[in-house]
Amino acid sequence: MNHIPNDKPFSQACENNKRVILRVLEQAFANCRQVLEIGSGTGQHAVFLAEHLPHLIWHTSDQPHYHQGISAWIDEANVGNLKHPIPFTIGHDAFPHIDVDGVFTANTAHIMQREEVKLLMELVASHLPQGGMFCQYGPFTHSGKFTSESNQAFHLSLLERGYGGYRDINELTEWAPGLRLIKTIDMPANNHMLVWQKA
Ligand SMILES: C[S@@+](CC[C@H](N)C(=O)[O-])C[C@H]1O[C@@H](n2cnc3c(N)ncnc32)[C@H](O)[C@@H]1O
Repeated sequence: MNHIPNDKPFSQACENNKRVILRVLEQAFANCRQVLEIGSGTGQHAVFLAEHLPHLIWHTSDQPHYHQGISAWIDEANVGNLKHPIPFTIGHDAFPHIDVDGVFTANTAHIMQREEVKLLMELVASHLPQGGMFCQYGPFTHSGKFTSESNQAFHLSLLERGYGGYRDINELTEWAPGLRLIKTIDMPANNHMLVWQKA
């Protein structure tokens, strides 16, 4: 993550993937009203997605040290349906007290520790209402297989740096029996969008 001149954090990856993510969310969140984003990061996805999905109230969240950057993007964008970040660290905080019928998270599962991802899946499964949607973007393995050699190298470099590394789609499925994986969409740069629905 870099900083651009007016001191907002900036991720080039977000700029590259936000439009393809929007295309999936337009369909997946078509019938939702309130979405919680977990691990909003820079805030770039939130600003872009809330602006292009005006039927939603978009709640950002992350660990507290990300809030200043997220709020800087929100203040500048002035998008009416976008909310300032809620402190939400999986493994530390309770699930936010808002009535969400959609959850979005991008590039968090390979950063979190294994136990945190397990808890994330359990929390989303228990807090979404029946029919609620969960869109989970990022790099994953499928039945233990990496989608490319560069993905495997990235996974190993994450482990060396103390991050949890890639999670397998099968283990995510096991951890959240209340969620049904209705679509696994191939996305650019060897990423996937997992579209889950609360059964
Ligand atoms: C690689 S960044 C992705 C940020 C943004 N979603 C994106 O796609 O650019 C990983 C994010 O996961 C968040 N994260 C890591 N561990 C977390 C935890 N235990 N609970 C909540 N968020 C966590 C970080 O704070 C950070 O925002």
